[in-house]
Amino acid sequence: MAEIIIVPSKAEAGALVADEIVRLIRATPDAVLGLATGSTPVPVYEALRSRLEGVDVSRVRGFALDEYVGIDPAHPESYRSVITREVVEPLGLTPELIHTPNGALEGIEHAGEDYEEAILAAGGIDLQILGIGTSGHIGFNEPGSSFASHTRVKTLIEQTRKDNSIYFDSIDDVPMHCITQGLGTILRARHLVLLAFGEGKAAAVAGAVEGPVTASLPGSAIQLHPHATVVVDEAAASQLASADYYRYALANKPAWQGI
Ligand code: GLP
Repeated sequence: MAEIIIVPSKAEAGALVADEIVRLIRATPDAVLGLATGSTPVPVYEALRSRLEGVDVSRVRGFALDEYVGIDPAHPESYRSVITREVVEPLGLTPELIHTPNGALEGIEHAGEDYEEAILAAGGIDLQILGIGTSGHIGFNEPGSSFASHTRVKTLIEQTRKDNSIYFDSIDDVPMHCITQGLGTILRARHLVLLAFGEGKAAAVAGAVEGPVTASLPGSAIQLHPHATVVVDEAAASQLASADYYRYALANKPAWQGI
């Protein structure tokens, strides 16, 4: 099963995951990061700023999980813009090495396949950062997504558009379609790190970690992965039946194991 780490705050979660990413980049200067958007990974990116000072990140490569279809890449809420603003610029990454799926309408039929090829050509993703939606989605893989799916166009459910409307003027401005790495794509990454904060994520986290493995809760796909780490605050952990065991296992974990 995934390793579950319950932390007191978002800042501690960010620090923990950032430390792991720094270790990875020091060991593998051209590491391939899987980058998530949304509010959840922000503490990780913030914690990375000071930690990466003096570290050569010029060869670090990255692939975003998803993008809206039909959005102008220059729109401040396109995931291309978000990744540039929150990750590439503050961390000093090389823009040409950081990719997002191409959500342009022209060529959208093969954009998924192109993205898969680019990930494979890079040698695959070393560490994939994940958030989880209230519907249990990871990336934009809404309930019902195939566990074997690759990057493709999906239709967003109303709840996700509502959740994401905070970034737009109104829900009507939230695109209807997205292009997202599939669950099969995500499962190929060598290390999955899923973060979740707050009460609103508690049911999705419990379902993903302890529920049945089901396409109805796409986050449960992480149970199929040999190296998955779940970092949650107390509120997001509040529906985990075995929380005491996770705390006990962490307290007694050999130091050499890392996350
Ligand atoms: C968004 C993104 C996901 C993200 C999730 C949760 O729609 N496509 O990658 O993990 O929903 O968002 P947040 O982290 O803002 O709660």
